Amino acid sequence: MTVKELTAEEKLRLICGKDSWHTVDLDGKIPSVCVSDGPVGLRKSEMDEKGNWVRDLPAVAYPALHVLANSWSRECAREMGESLADDCKEQNVDILLAPGVNIKRNPLNGRNFEYFSEDPLLAGTLAYEYIDGLQSKGVGACLKHYYVNNREYNRLDQSSEVDERTLRELYLKPFELACKAKPISAMCAYNRINGVYASENAKGFRILRDEFGFDGAIISDWGAVHDRTASAKAGLDLEMPFHEGNYEKLVADYKAGKITDEEIDACAERVLRLAERCEKMREGRKAERTVEERFAVARKIAEEGIVLLKNEGVLPLSPGQSISVSGYFAAPEAFGKISGGGSAMVQWRGEKFNLADILRKKTGGEVRYTRAFWERGVLCDSRQAEIDAAECDVCVICAGTGSDIESEGYDRGDMRLPQWEEESILRLSKRNPNTVVVLFTGSAVDVSAWADGVAGIVYAGFCGEQGGEAVARVLTGEVNPSGKLSETFPVSYEDVPVSWADNDPCVARYEEGLDVGYRYYDTYDVRVSFPFGFGLSYSEFVYSALKVKASGDKAEVSFTVKNAGGPAGREVSQLYIRPIAAYVHRPAQELKAFTKQQILPGKNVKVKFGLTTADFAYYSTAVDGWRTDDGLYEIAVGASSREIFLRALVKIEGGNISFVKELKDEFAF
Ligand code: GLC
Repeated sequence: MTVKELTAEEKLRLICGKDSWHTVDLDGKIPSVCVSDGPVGLRKSEMDEKGNWVRDLPAVAYPALHVLANSWSRECAREMGESLADDCKEQNVDILLAPGVNIKRNPLNGRNFEYFSEDPLLAGTLAYEYIDGLQSKGVGACLKHYYVNNREYNRLDQSSEVDERTLRELYLKPFELACKAKPISAMCAYNRINGVYASENAKGFRILRDEFGFDGAIISDWGAVHDRTASAKAGLDLEMPFHEGNYEKLVADYKAGKITDEEIDACAERVLRLAERCEKMREGRKAERTVEERFAVARKIAEEGIVLLKNEGVLPLSPGQSISVSGYFAAPEAFGKISGGGSAMVQWRGEKFNLADILRKKTGGEVRYTRAFWERGVLCDSRQAEIDAAECDVCVICAGTGSDIESEGYDRGDMRLPQWEEESILRLSKRNPNTVVVLFTGSAVDVSAWADGVAGIVYAGFCGEQGGEAVARVLTGEVNPSGKLSETFPVSYEDVPVSWADNDPCVARYEEGLDVGYRYYDTYDVRVSFPFGFGLSYSEFVYSALKVKASGDKAEVSFTVKNAGGPAGREVSQLYIRPIAAYVHRPAQELKAFTKQQILPGKNVKVKFGLTTADFAYYSTAVDGWRTDDGLYEIAVGASSREIFLRALVKIEGGNISFVKELKDEFAF
């Protein structure tokens, strides 16, 4: 079937959705496509005959994407995509409206839990694996929200004002990397970019298609179309959901000659291709993993995405220790809160976890549970919680934010935990020096009010319905924590450049440019609570034997990581580049390679990273393209952006890389 076989009326109808979750089938002439949220689990909505929402069907609630990102694991990202495909196939969903790859410019952004990172390489690389995993199992992805959607405040109308270089190096880069997985669809954002709605942003659509190689259909975010004619002329292929007024105006504009057949055909053709691709992917597809196996995937991602931020000899727990567990997030009634709010919310399919029960079964020792605080500041049995904390060997406090605070549609008011939770932590940690705080939040937290007074901090994030088991396995040492932060934890929100930006509700001016996340904190040596790429383990990893073999425009960087003490564990090694004496502003360092390796006790693994001169490039608006200047660059290898153990100097000249020397504890610049 080609658009030539369709009438003008059919094509006009085709580029507007049928209802909330389907495309039209033109009276059975073409297949209809079924789409559904969301990035952390399937949210298949049941609608009544009038198209009104009735309920969301239960599905496996995986860890949110920020927890997946904290795993730094390509394998976990791929497995999550494959497992989500099974959930979708069971419900006959053709396209999952995921993943979101927007950069975490602002720690307060309400949807950070749905996104990967402050760093474009980490975000784009994991999104690639997630998309490829999903699509390899017969379900389409929808890369979103294109683009520069970095806050929820006035999201439907505000304009993100960004310079071209920052756009290319930071905000577009994750989309560019993810497009290598050939997502069959992408979703335009609500906001404007430099004044023009994303749904009408012809330049953005041209970049996506002509430069990033995107060959799918571009779908609007729900209700993001303001003028269907203008958006179709710009290259937006499909408006979702159906909007009668927009459709009627489109037909009238077509009749008035305001949009040409060629412009309509371009969009209709891509929607037709999308429908045919989905029909082809449906052939013979069936769920491969059982629900139990999918739960196991969700648990594995949580285990690998939990970040041990502080451990002063309190973890792992010792068998037989008495434990007092407190905090609302430890118990089943919190299930809907251990996730963000909005379209990504998933109705858990499994049991609501109770951390105290799980620990009781695992440790065999005494485990007490006293809630101490609910959501919204309701304290309860807080005296008993103090007694339990004082009498038990270890005090575990489960604190967090949840969907009332972190959600689509609104941003957080500040970066701290709710005041009643901070007070509970301060009060209980005074009763027991062996206090561990488990954080169930979807984004960075200002821990400055209480972190010094506790012995351990475990960042569980919105860890999904298997998160309770995963947290218990990390606390008891059944799992050696291997997660690392995909987003910096600043000391306070005042340290974040975006906090100084003017708060014009209609224009978000990205004056900080590239100064986002570690690109800012490391460049200006700003103290942070926990740096990008940071995470502790129960093992000790030692880096050595750096070698750089350079030839032509390529360099192979190799080094050894030894598990020098502790149980078998996984280590995320990171490689950053640092330009020396550049002629443009360059961040102090940029992540250019990473890997996660399982290392047995006492054993070494050899890590190899391949670099090319392109990895040293910046985007030059002088030449409207990527450019690698000749000069000296430092290659920095370590366990986080602030734990660099191995360094070398390389020189780039005339498009070739040459090794200069290893830098042993000397200051390169
Ligand atoms: C929402 C979200 C988008 C979601 C869509 C469908 O407004 O922005 O991420 O996929 O609408 O629910």
